Amino acid sequence: MKRDFLHITDFTSAEVLETLENAKEVKAKLKSGENYTPFKGRSMAMIFTKPSARTRISFETGFYRLGGHAVYLGPSDIDIGKREAVKDIARVISRYNDIIMARLFDHNHILELADYADVPVINALTDYNHPCQIMADILTIQEHRGHLEDLKVVYIGDGNNIVNSWLRLSQRIPFHFVCACPENYTPDADTVKAAQDAGLSTIDIQHDPAIAAQKADVIYTDVWASMGQKHEKEDRLKHFKGFQVNETIMAAADENALFLHCLPAERGLEVTDTVIEGRGSVVFDEAENRMHVQNVLLLKIAGEI
Ligand code: CP
Ligand code: NVA
Repeated sequence: MKRDFLHITDFTSAEVLETLENAKEVKAKLKSGENYTPFKGRSMAMIFTKPSARTRISFETGFYRLGGHAVYLGPSDIDIGKREAVKDIARVISRYNDIIMARLFDHNHILELADYADVPVINALTDYNHPCQIMADILTIQEHRGHLEDLKVVYIGDGNNIVNSWLRLSQRIPFHFVCACPENYTPDADTVKAAQDAGLSTIDIQHDPAIAAQKADVIYTDVWASMGQKHEKEDRLKHFKGFQVNETIMAAADENALFLHCLPAERGLEVTDTVIEGRGSVVFDEAENRMHVQNVLLLKIAGEI
């Protein structure tokens, strides 16, 4: 049976924790300059229907560092679901490549892609979730805190794809997750319910950033208008007033609180310059860890570790 990584919950709790350990090991190997090439002779197709910096660079570079070759297919190359049916391109790519990475709008498209592909598929963001990002985030938190005990993560902003992945993670490892968002910008209701029903973590969805931030170990934010929603930006600015992560929010958090942002950031909107450049900010370690955690996710779905 081939493995896919479309949601964090596609992995068991043990696999999630093992991924973090393996990521630290593979990161150390690469940093030491060791020649580690388990993907020698393999190729990965990367389908992008949305823009990207980190995702493209980290997947392409990571796969290359592990000995493989990545093929970039941009928004105008395949035009998945429009020029050609998802189920057709899934089977075509499976005849050429060993792994498929995809960043798509419609989450149903990645489910269909994985259903029809004969090779492992990894989700590099859909409108619904961004599992690789949140795996990199939790790795970064673990590295900086030294452990994941008694963790309070406070997300302030839009209840978007990032939040849905945090909620999925909360079903695999225990922590306190608070999402402070405007009333009409709550995360996916079924995903909130599944996270609450799982009973492993404490989940609060509320609307007051200052209260949410109290004693937080991690303050996290993301853009107020995601890719595909940029035309709503002006309207959203009105609703997200008061949801900016600034010095006041950081002061309400634990004195050692970390600041994370998946990036790209719109400085001056969801976060101030002072916070993103501040003492607790680990956004560039977080960006680097995309590559290290993805390397291991790829090795795992390919059955290499
Ligand atoms: N965080 C992230 O996925 O960045 P990109 O959109 O630049 O890939
Ligand atoms: N929520 C953002 C994340 C970007 C990495 C988006 O979907 O545009």
